[in-house]
Amino acid sequence: MSQRVAIIGAGPCGLSQLVAFSSAGDSVPEQVCFEKQDDWGGLWNYTWRTGIDEHGEPVHGSMYRYLWSNGPKECLEFADYSFDEHFGQPIPSFPPREPLADYIFGRAKKHDLRGVMQLQHVVRDVSWSDSANKFSVTVDDLAKERRRTEDFDYVVVATGHFSIPNVPYFKGMERFPGRVLHGHDFREAREFSGQNVLIVGASYSAEDIGLQIHKYGAKSVTLCWRTQPMDFKWPEGMDERQLLTEIKGSTIHFKDGSAKDFDAIVLCTGYKHNFPFLADDLKLKTHNRLYPPKLYKSMFWHNNPRLIYLGMQDQFYTFSMFDAQAWYARDVMLGRIKLPSKDEMAADIDAWVAREEKLEDPYQQIDFQADYIRDLVKDTDYPKFDIDLTVAAFKEWEHDKMDSIVGYRNKAFKSPVTGTMAPTHHTQWLEAMDDSMAAFLEAGRA
Ligand SMILES: Cc1cc2nc3c(=O)[nH]c(=O)nc-3n(C[C@H](O)[C@H](O)[C@H](O)COP(=O)(O)OP(=O)(O)OC[C@H]3O[C@@H](n4cnc5c(N)ncnc54)[C@H](O)[C@@H]3O)c2cc1C
Ligand SMILES: NC(=O)c1ccc[n+]([C@@H]2O[C@H](COP(=O)([O-])OP(=O)(O)OC[C@H]3O[C@@H](n4cnc5c(N)ncnc54)[C@H](OP(=O)(O)O)[C@@H]3O)[C@@H](O)[C@H]2O)c1
Repeated sequence: MSQRVAIIGAGPCGLSQLVAFSSAGDSVPEQVCFEKQDDWGGLWNYTWRTGIDEHGEPVHGSMYRYLWSNGPKECLEFADYSFDEHFGQPIPSFPPREPLADYIFGRAKKHDLRGVMQLQHVVRDVSWSDSANKFSVTVDDLAKERRRTEDFDYVVVATGHFSIPNVPYFKGMERFPGRVLHGHDFREAREFSGQNVLIVGASYSAEDIGLQIHKYGAKSVTLCWRTQPMDFKWPEGMDERQLLTEIKGSTIHFKDGSAKDFDAIVLCTGYKHNFPFLADDLKLKTHNRLYPPKLYKSMFWHNNPRLIYLGMQDQFYTFSMFDAQAWYARDVMLGRIKLPSKDEMAADIDAWVAREEKLEDPYQQIDFQADYIRDLVKDTDYPKFDIDLTVAAFKEWEHDKMDSIVGYRNKAFKSPVTGTMAPTHHTQWLEAMDDSMAAFLEAGRA
């Protein structure tokens, strides 16, 4: 009997796994990809919905309108499917969501992945049976309202970890007269036009949602931090303070003794890894970090390496790292790579985790994640790409952000796949209000 692989989630990670199999070149196991949304793309499949969806499921999407890539596209480029190949022309380095989604979908279409997709299928339960030597996977077909259970030899968990919001409480919140929402439910910046908005958090969502609310006409945006400030040179109308301490009506008090009136609060306080469908002995428990423990090569569940997690780390690299993982996972499933003993895997995990815990700044973190990718791709036939160039680009990008937080997206980088130098965009990011693919690709606009 041929082997069966269940892939849970058809976001970028799930699609990487399917493309890896499609590129394997010889006999591959049967693959079934269960995706609870009505189309592939994961977070990149934008939805206007928030809260609960049409089937009573928690909405997965955390992306919002007018979202532009926050890193250079060259640092996430697929080595086997360049931006030049997809668009037929060089495009600028910081695309909005729609062209990036189109790029992901383009490769999925090229590999004709629809056949293995089970859309509107939510995985409810995964457990391992020693006697059957298989996983038992229970799935709900949301459209037909039918449940079924199937056996698989491998399970690939590609369900993402930026969907279930981390929602802290602050004293007085229940009496705040304005809107309080988490970034997960943020969709349309114009809603806050003319308002004084407080953003809680000091990472990518805080920076990006704060800037976007500013860009689309807020009266003021105040960001507040718990551990350390972002310390960018914020444009006029934005400022950064220590964490809030208490909310009294619409007046919010901060640790530094200051106070200000606000109309709305956006909690950009991160996300939780959440796997309600996994038996407890299979469940990864971690915060958002570069090397979650108990995963060999940051993928294989130490106690049962037939359970494979993709994309569970914090991410400088995204699509190309997911590919590096997917190719490696594929080769393990195909028997081309043999996993070492349990003790050797534990020692390897410990060494990576120990190195991660000593990292001191983003530059070291970038080197760490690049080394992780190098470690994977050296053992597979994933096409070569210039990883050193992506490291240099990420480090330049860190500098660019410190130089100008509203200007860094106007820069251009060189492709690590084709060597093409990106053109600069026709409009400065702060002035570019139309984020459609048509507007983005329009050449020569002043
Ligand atoms: C607001 C925001 C902006 C971002 N912007 C960028 C960016 O500009 N550039 C970048 O490179 N990265 C960005 N990211 C990072 C993002 O994590 C990755 O780009 C990528 O989407 C991760 O892919 P994934 O497949 O791991 O997860 P996801 O994209 O989250 O996909 C997971 C899929 O699993 C499905 N699923 C979940 N549970 C089940 C279940 N039980 N049964 C069946 N299906 C299930 C979901 O419906 C979803 O389709 C952003 C993240 C966020 C939150
Ligand atoms: N345009 C874009 O491309 C874009 C936009 C948004 C997000 N993203 C992506 O989305 C992913 C998630 O980013 P994220 O910023 O949502 O999550 P994150 O990087 O995990 O950061 C979470 C933030 O919340 C803060 N926080 C958590 N609990 C808190 C509490 N109780 N009180 C105060 N602060 C608290 C943390 O502060 P501490 O430091 O104190 O822990 C941290 O600053 C990233 O991969 C990012 O690249 C991309």
